[in-house]
Formats: sequence, structure tokens, C-alpha cells
Amino acid sequence: MSELIQKLRENQNLTEEEFKKILSCEEYDEDLRQNADAVRREQYGNQVYLRGLIEFTNYCKNNCYYCGIRRDNRNVSRYRLTQDEILECCREGYALGFRTFVLQGGEDPYFTDQRVCSIVSAIHQEFPDCAITLSMGEKSFESYLAYFQAGAERYLLRHETASPEHYGKLHPAEMSCRNRQECLFHLKKIGYQVGAGIMVGSPYQTLDHIIEDLRFLQKLQPQMIGIGPFLSHQDTPFRNEKNGELKLTLRLLSVLRLMFPKVLLPATTALGTVHPLGREMGLKAGANVIMPNLSPTSVRKKYMLYDNKICTGDESAQCRQCTERRAASIGYEVVTDRGDAKDFRRE
Ligand code: 5AD
Ligand code: FES
Repeated sequence: MSELIQKLRENQNLTEEEFKKILSCEEYDEDLRQNADAVRREQYGNQVYLRGLIEFTNYCKNNCYYCGIRRDNRNVSRYRLTQDEILECCREGYALGFRTFVLQGGEDPYFTDQRVCSIVSAIHQEFPDCAITLSMGEKSFESYLAYFQAGAERYLLRHETASPEHYGKLHPAEMSCRNRQECLFHLKKIGYQVGAGIMVGSPYQTLDHIIEDLRFLQKLQPQMIGIGPFLSHQDTPFRNEKNGELKLTLRLLSVLRLMFPKVLLPATTALGTVHPLGREMGLKAGANVIMPNLSPTSVRKKYMLYDNKICTGDESAQCRQCTERRAASIGYEVVTDRGDAKDFRRE
């Protein structure tokens, strides 16, 4: 085993120079992958956790340069699911074995705190054995607290990049790196299990930025880290930017597994989009979560964050079976429990 990888596995940390070496050289890849897989096995065996993703609104008041559902994209046909439609997705998901529902959407002012709380309570009441995850952007401390009290236990909010300078190149001036990070600390303080993360290979990203991201994650200590390659969308300012690389994404997944042995690491939809077997490769590189789509088929093509997104023509049941098959093909087992992070104690 290379000394560097051994050191990373033992200390869960490296110097900037050492991180840079691992992230930029192919020669460590095989070693890195094997060790990440071993650590994932120590922590989670061959189990893969499922999260059912419900994309409940594609309205968004933000204008991020990378995102297909940004405010200024006039080519998007906008939709919102009703509370009943969301509950119907949960029912279908529950029957398929999902015990975690992720409600993801743009920052849509229609969904006031009252509406969000009503939806969360209704899900909580009907499915008391399920975890409810929200992923709906930056809100005030009070709003996050209200959702938590209504029954949401987890929140996903990728920090996107920990560098304010890089953040400014991905977002218009009205958004701030600082506010985003503050939101994550608020969520943790309230008691949420938190997910942060980045896009790999986003425009202007350097290895130094990625190392800054690793340092930020060490500070935040999130329960989940979601990463996937940046993929361009034809109707955004980044339409001509090149896509993030599969190889670097896999490398980073392995580094994250070694740095955070117990963290939940999804093999993301973007990873499955950049390569037909991307998610399988992600699992082998250290990931342990898959988030199949539970959104109604009628809206899936409207939630296009990037071009060529997979699973937009499939029924929920198809995605569920497909996930099972893909996991089994590489010797992993999909499990249908809540899949809490190993280091998170429920009070
Ligand atoms: N390519 C890859 N990932 C994207 N996301 C948004 N747009 C893109 C894109 N073009 C990611 C962001 C966001 C998450 C929901 O999806 O990181 O936080
Ligand atoms: Fe959706 Fe494969 S996971 S079709």
C-alpha cells in the first residue's frame, strides 16, 4: 500500500500538499479505491441505503449560473406538486420499501413555512417510521426550526464551494458563500442530520478549491456529503463549459470515505448521468447511498438541473428495481431501513 493512502486511512487527514498529490495523480487510484471500499465495508458492510427523491417544485427564485431550473430559464415548464400529490409519492415509495423521503425543490416562495410544515406533519403522521429529509435551499433559522419541529430530521444543502471567490463565479452577487455556510451551521445547531457537498469540475474550480472544501467539511462534520460531476445545461450561462470528470469524482468519493469513515455518501444521479455505470463505480469507490426518483413521471423531465439527466422517463417502481439490480450486480444489498448515519445518535 502506498504510504500516503495508509496515512490518510489512519489519520483521516493529510497536509495540503499530500491531498494535492492524491487528487492530481492517477497512480494512487487503485489503492485509494481499495482502501475506501474496505473502510465502507467496515462501517456499513455491503449495504446500500435508499432515499426516495420527490422533486416537488421546479420554481426557483435563484439564478445560479449552473442550474437548469434557474429563475431566468424561460424554457422550463414550471410545476408544483400539491400536498396530496406529495403524499401519494410517499405512499408509492413506502410500498416499494422506502423509509426515507427527500423533498427536494427550488427556492419557491409559494411554499411558505406554513405549507412546508403542513406537508411535513402530514408525512410524519402517516409514516411515523420514516425519516423526512428536506432539500429546499437557504431559509432563516426560525424556518428551519419550524420544519424540524414539524418532523423533518434531515436537511440537504450543498455548500457548492467553500471558497468565496469561487462561489462568486458560480452565483450572482445576491447570493453569498457566507450565508450558505451559516445556514448549514444553523441546521446542525437545531439538531438536523445535515448533508453538504459540491459539484466536481464546476467551472473555475481548482484543486485548491477542492482542498478548501475538504477543510470546510472537517469543520462542519456533516452526516452526508453529496458530490457529483458538474454537467452543463443548454439554457444556462454555463452551456459551453465542460462537464466534470468521472475519474476525479470517484477519486474524491474515496478520499471522503477515508476522511469520514461513517459519513453517508450517495452515488448521485449526476454520476449515473456522466457514465452508464457511474453509480456502480461510485459504490465501489466508497459510496453507500442511492437516491432513486419517486417523483411523478409527468414532472420528471421538468426537473432538469443539467442535460441528459437519467431516470426521467421511468416509473418509481422501475427505478426501485433498477437500483436493486445495479447494486446486486456488484455484490451489494439494498436495504430498506431509515439508514441513519452511524455517528448520529437519536435522542
Ligand atoms: N450539474 C451538476 N449538478 C448540479 N446541481 C445543480 N445544477 C447542476 C449541474 N448543472 C446540483 C447542485 C445542487 C444540487 C441539488 O444539484 O450541487 O445543490
Ligand atoms: Fe431510475 Fe435506473 S434508477 S431507471
